[in-house]
Amino acid sequence: MASSTNTTESPAALDISRPVSKDQLVEGERWTRALTITVDGPAGSGKSTVARLVAETLGFNYVETGATYRALGWLALERGIPLDDGARLRGLAIAQPASLGYGVDRWEVKIAGVDITDAIREPRIDDAASRVASHPEVRDVMIARQRQLSLDRDSVLDGRDCGKVVRPDAELKIFITADLEERARRRGGQQDESGSGAESNVAAALEARDARDAKQSEAADDAFVLDTTNVGIQEAVDLLVNMWLERRRELLDGEMTQGRTAREWIDNESGLANFDKVLRRTRPVWEKGFRLQAHGVERVPDEPCLFIANHASTWDPAFLISPLNRVIRYMGKADLASNRYLKNLADAIGFFPVRRGAGDRVALHIGEEVLRRGDSLGIFPEGTRVYEGRLARPRQGAARLALITGVPIVPVAIYGNRWSESLFKVTVAFGRPHRFDGQLATPANIRNATTAVWADVQELWDAQRADRWF
Ligand code: DC
Repeated sequence: MASSTNTTESPAALDISRPVSKDQLVEGERWTRALTITVDGPAGSGKSTVARLVAETLGFNYVETGATYRALGWLALERGIPLDDGARLRGLAIAQPASLGYGVDRWEVKIAGVDITDAIREPRIDDAASRVASHPEVRDVMIARQRQLSLDRDSVLDGRDCGKVVRPDAELKIFITADLEERARRRGGQQDESGSGAESNVAAALEARDARDAKQSEAADDAFVLDTTNVGIQEAVDLLVNMWLERRRELLDGEMTQGRTAREWIDNESGLANFDKVLRRTRPVWEKGFRLQAHGVERVPDEPCLFIANHASTWDPAFLISPLNRVIRYMGKADLASNRYLKNLADAIGFFPVRRGAGDRVALHIGEEVLRRGDSLGIFPEGTRVYEGRLARPRQGAARLALITGVPIVPVAIYGNRWSESLFKVTVAFGRPHRFDGQLATPANIRNATTAVWADVQELWDAQRADRWF
């Protein structure tokens, strides 16, 4: 297949194993690519702490661009490469990319196979990082790599020049500042905690580093500037998270799919107006036709919930909705919206479409808004209908939604929804709700939540299977 450098190609098709140039970032169809928030600012402004918490509150990928320069500074010192030799540093940057990400239980930085998560926070690395970052030929390599790290998942980038240079196409740009005195106090505190550094020198060192970093620490013209001198961490995080939710609503308002804006799909007033009528009319189909029986309805809390269930039949949404008698929204294949037999039914339960090609990305943002507006949502995390007589491995998007919205998850197992299991006898079992109050949407928390909920679905499913005598 011929490779193409055509920039009109969808950015989703970018080969992210290669460095990404600025012109490849230009406007594509927004929702086919991951969304980006940039948080820039000088050392000690609190930006890294805030950026990381924003990422973990929203379930975004966190990209600490400073760590890539710190890792290179560390390796250069280790190998005795002079910090003023831009050409050799560039070579080293190309040969030894740092890897950033969550390990089993903490965020980790590695280079050349060495875990340097703690080592790069030493004061000697403050200086080394700033020196290696002053070479334009090193920055080229780093910037391309930082883009790469942010392209395939919704990301928060933390750095100096992310809004202006690394991701000029970011959906939201923040520039965090604070007075020098306050920054020195914070940085001094950080270094005291790690047991090194003399606080009296901190302000002077910061000032020197500021001077060197200044040319790459400019706010983008379209960045929102936040002075945190008198603002606490959590307050800043809440502010940025709310700014993002506002911004995303704006984006969703302008997004069309299947003849409606994403906002219209989220609200779907006209479809939902028919909910009671459609439920009444179709109930005999589920209760008599499929001999639907429910267990554990009393466990379902009277509040918006995320229902997580196994999936084998087109009618699964109805099997959850009918016994509970309440609206549960679903995402489904976009062609449902034009299917003449199912369209009205789907509309009445507030279905919204997953667009082919755009992956689950758009649908998950719409799903999040659906939960934030106070509706319940049903998700089949196996991703597709499964017939093999067992449950498939769940995807983690649903747990992520619960963690970022604070909505409880109700595990549900449906049995008899495969032809091989039933002669028109369907049972649906609702489990105990799982609550995740106060948990951040870190990869470990998302994974644990998925495992815990899915274990319940499996147990409920096994129990129903054991209960069948035919
Ligand atoms: O944010 P930090 O202190 O970890 O950054 C370490 C150094 O890297 C800092 O002196 C400036 C530099 N840097 C940069 O030039 N561009 C970035 N996007 C991030 C950091």
